Amino acid sequence: PVIYAITPTYTRAVQKAELTRLSNTFRQVPGFHWIVVEDGGARTELVSRLLARSAVPHTHLHALTPRRYKRGGMPRATEQRNAALGWLRAHRTRGDRGVVFFADDDNTYSLELFEEMRSTQRVSVWPVGLVGGRRYERPLVEKGRVVGWYTGWRADRPFATDMAGFAVNLQVILANPRAVFKRRGSQPGMQESDFLKQITRVEELEPKAANCTQVLVWHTRTEKVNLGNEPKHRQDTVMIEV
Ligand code: UGA
Ligand code: MN
Repeated sequence: PVIYAITPTYTRAVQKAELTRLSNTFRQVPGFHWIVVEDGGARTELVSRLLARSAVPHTHLHALTPRRYKRGGMPRATEQRNAALGWLRAHRTRGDRGVVFFADDDNTYSLELFEEMRSTQRVSVWPVGLVGGRRYERPLVEKGRVVGWYTGWRADRPFATDMAGFAVNLQVILANPRAVFKRRGSQPGMQESDFLKQITRVEELEPKAANCTQVLVWHTRTEKVNLGNEPKHRQDTVMIEV
């Protein structure tokens, strides 16, 4: 199966660095298709060029987050992930073998993670490092089944996992055409649970990464860059893309 990694991304000072780091990882993964969805009214030259040079098979989309949703306390990247799901439903059919994974642009991915998720029959789960106010969160596994969640944050979530903690077989995405990320009623941190509820049950989750005892992905977050010394007017003689 091909791994379809869905990456929402938006224009900011660190964007090219983030996507460079991701492309350096993803180009080493065989059978990989990168769906990059820019948050905006159009695709940008910066991301187009980066993807062209990445040597990673890819699809480049865009979807605008309405201004009213660009506030603190709002879930992020809902429209972008749904645009990618829409693309898969329009361009892939029954018989195509694939695994869908949500790969935010600031996380850190080991290569082993992709080999683990490749065998996903329906929905698979694994631990995520550096998230939820703990060193890691993970599904608790007994006799090969998920029976609960080790988490420090909102333990009442039916699926207490970060976006980076699960993958879905492409056929499950196609068989549930109405499963999408929801704006209405979805709080930050509840998007994962709200989405998974639409397509699976806890009892049928497939634990990966040695029964969820290995951390193969980290919810790293990039520090907001200090641009306090940028000149008010251009001083450099050439225009440099960063
Ligand atoms: C956590 C989860 O890890 C995310 O998957 C979830 O979307 C998010 O919370 C949430 O609040 O809903 P966090 O590190 O706080 O993640 O979020 P970001 O990494 O800042 O954003 C998630 C993704 O959305 C990134 O790929 C980012 O580039 C993208 N994004 C963010 C946009 O496309 N537009 C934005 O305005 C902000
Ligand atoms: Mn993040």
